[in-house]
Amino acid sequence: MENNAITKIDIITRPSQFEELKNELNKIGITGLTVSHVLGCGLQKGKTEYYRGNPYSIDLLPKVKMEIVVSEVPVEEVVRVAKEVLGTGEIGDGKIFIYPIQNVIKVRTGEEGVDAL
Ligand SMILES: Nc1ncnc2c1ncn2[C@@H]1O[C@H](COP(=O)(O)OP(=O)(O)OP(=O)(O)O)[C@@H](O)[C@H]1O
Ligand SMILES: [Mg+2]
Repeated sequence: MENNAITKIDIITRPSQFEELKNELNKIGITGLTVSHVLGCGLQKGKTEYYRGNPYSIDLLPKVKMEIVVSEVPVEEVVRVAKEVLGTGEIGDGKIFIYPIQNVIKVRTGEEGVDAL
């Protein structure tokens, strides 16, 4: 059965793990991705740092956001690789958001949908 579903996966994690994740995703056939340096916080609302013994909070920490749109490569495969590379068990390992994509248009050729990826 043909599977024409197109799915977007956003992975937000520590900048330090970005290079390895990019390499591992390359190995499973990911061809296109968008990367942004972002600021974010999760449950911990950033973290508490100390300056001369006094606590102060940093609300937002630098993170890397990778946006990947897939059709042929299974979403579960991307999630598996991301969990393998990013999972340390420590807070701030990151989060993965998955959502359906309605359409893709490749400007140069006019191709749409799966063909445009
Ligand atoms: N509910 C959310 N909405 C949008 N972005 C989020 C949300 N939760 C987390 N993020 C983004 O994901 C990044 C990584 O989150 P993080 O791994 O710290 O999640 P967490 O829920 O706090 O888990 P942990 O307890 O492991 O730290 C955040 O810095 C933020 O950019
Ligand atoms: Mg957190």
